[in-house]
Amino acid sequence: MSRKILVTSALPYANGAIHLGHLVEYIQTDIWVRFQKLRGHTCHYVCADDTHGTPIMLRAEKEGISPEALIERVHGEHLRDFTGFHVAFDNYYSTNSAENRHFAYDIYGKLKANGKIVSRTISQLYDPVKNMFLPDRFVKGECPKCGAKDQYGDNCEACGTTYAPTDLKNPYSAVSGATPELRDSEHFFFKLGDCEDFLKNWTTTEGKLQAEASNKMQEWFEAGLSDWDISRDAPYFGFEIPDAPDKYFYVWLDAPVGYMASHKNLCDRLGIDFDSYWKKDSDAELYHFIGKDILYFHALFWPAMLEFSGYRTPTAINAHGFLTVDGAKMSKSRGTFITAESYLRHLNPEWLRYYFAAKLSNTVEDIDLNLEDFSARVNSDLIGKYVNIASRAAGFISKRFGGELARELGDVPLLSKLSGEAERIAGLFDARLYGQAIREIMALTDEVNQFVDANKPWEMAKQEGRDAELQRVCSILINAFRILTIYLKPVLPKLAQDVEAFLNVAPLQWADAQSLLLAHCINPYNHLMTRIDPKQIEAMVEENKQSLAPVVEAPKLDYEVPPIAETISIDDFMKIDLRVARIVEAKAVEGADKLVSLTLDIGSETRHVFAGIKSAYKPEDLQGRLTVMVANLAPRKMKFGMSEGMVLAAGGDGGLYILNPDSGAKPGMRVK
Ligand code: MSP
Ligand code: ZN
Repeated sequence: MSRKILVTSALPYANGAIHLGHLVEYIQTDIWVRFQKLRGHTCHYVCADDTHGTPIMLRAEKEGISPEALIERVHGEHLRDFTGFHVAFDNYYSTNSAENRHFAYDIYGKLKANGKIVSRTISQLYDPVKNMFLPDRFVKGECPKCGAKDQYGDNCEACGTTYAPTDLKNPYSAVSGATPELRDSEHFFFKLGDCEDFLKNWTTTEGKLQAEASNKMQEWFEAGLSDWDISRDAPYFGFEIPDAPDKYFYVWLDAPVGYMASHKNLCDRLGIDFDSYWKKDSDAELYHFIGKDILYFHALFWPAMLEFSGYRTPTAINAHGFLTVDGAKMSKSRGTFITAESYLRHLNPEWLRYYFAAKLSNTVEDIDLNLEDFSARVNSDLIGKYVNIASRAAGFISKRFGGELARELGDVPLLSKLSGEAERIAGLFDARLYGQAIREIMALTDEVNQFVDANKPWEMAKQEGRDAELQRVCSILINAFRILTIYLKPVLPKLAQDVEAFLNVAPLQWADAQSLLLAHCINPYNHLMTRIDPKQIEAMVEENKQSLAPVVEAPKLDYEVPPIAETISIDDFMKIDLRVARIVEAKAVEGADKLVSLTLDIGSETRHVFAGIKSAYKPEDLQGRLTVMVANLAPRKMKFGMSEGMVLAAGGDGGLYILNPDSGAKPGMRVK
């Protein structure tokens, strides 16, 4: 029976690069989704960037761009990295979307109507310089227990104690350095304690949570469910709370709602019935793949939010462990904090997909990427065992039989055995026991290689009158290779595609393991995959170390440096009034292919300037950025209107670069 399945991975924060730790999750999910699709089920895989919250707001400020510009750029980077690893979302959206606002309001409204929202005043640390309340991670100080300096407001990295930010000795704001003060503010809370009966039942329902996760829940119940603070004060980048001026939803309120928003956006584009997936008695399955660190949000808050706003709850939460590299936490100084982007510069993504698959199970245990084992395993399994089957058989088929496979093979126990494993292997993939599935597939691969060694096609090829036998043996091998490819296809989608081209067949489905390829012309064999050279791994690790090296080497000049101009006095210089300016609007100018029309905020007023920077910048990328302008230049009438100043840019043969003040600068500040 065909299933209707909706699958999500956690939404990565929009202020950092995707790294190999993240990829454990996205690759694990992608394998599962691809598997379900190969089985003929309807399966949607949705995700999005998690765009709200203080860190993203501050990061944008630091870069001198608007949060919108930051999340737009990061969205492109994330999607590029995921695509590079063949993670194929049906939709990759954003929590900063109209759909997400709609559902966040909808769910909040219903919770409120159900009496699940209360408000009360709390005291919180406030940064009097930056004029904002400080999240725990943005307060630092001395650990109240061991006295270690520069510890975060929630726990001490030196002694492991957890505490409230108000417990820190000599606290300071990590944003401005100022001493924080306690201030009162009204906050909204979700009454989680009210949902206890439902949650106790839900979290112990068979199949919802893994055993380890379910046990964790019981600890949390024993500790008591406290109300969940879902509001934050302005300034905050997020959704304003309806009827509550200057109050915003805490990022974790609208983040899981982003699953719905992304799915809604997909459904609207493709004409799919969204409600049939999300209504209370839906017949669709809903799975969330997440890391064990965010279990609390997904196994308590999220099901409660859904239940008490009238939606269906997840079918199951699939949590995984954390990635370690060579047995230790990923480390920037050791070069093992490896970004997706840098991996892809050096290595083939399917090597990692295979290695992760070989190590994954359905538990929350951490998984280790041992770099030596990684190359040994990929080389021996994928190249030595699997790809080798095709390369040993294909040459004879091409050269001796014009590419044609035998018309019939008779009874072949090896092939019956291979096809006969389809359901067992499918069961393992479905249960997320990928490591076991890979072991089964590799055991079959070993059997195929034993068949090669027993039949020795290279000897048959040298002997007269054994043509039919040779064609039969090689055709058996090609068919065995085809079936193994089907089983590996969820893990190695690109390789499978190359195999399909080589075999000259339509995209393979799981059910195709039950049929054979006979009297069929295949294409000449080209290398399907190369071996890992450990030097590639060394280069990657080295690169991830180097990106942090403090020494800046002087670059070799490959452009001409113009001579320095005549000396001027400080008075001459002071005549030029340079100001920090925020580009509030940037537009192309019709009829002018070099110019961009800029509206600049310089604190006390706005200026309108035409800048000849179109060749180097897209107007939309400039919006929100800080730059520097000459504010007392005589206005100049141009063909397209008045230009009231000049934006500073470096330039010459090597391109054009507008200036960017360092973080913290504000529009209108004088530059001197
Ligand atoms: N934005 C939240 C999730 C919101 S979901 C509604 C978040 N983002 S994250 O970028 O920090 O992490 C995204 C996912 O990657 C999480 O499931 C997290 O557990 C996972 N991983 C991040 N680092 C990881 C490892 N080192 N190892 C394995 N998974 C890790 O959390
Ligand atoms: Zn301490």
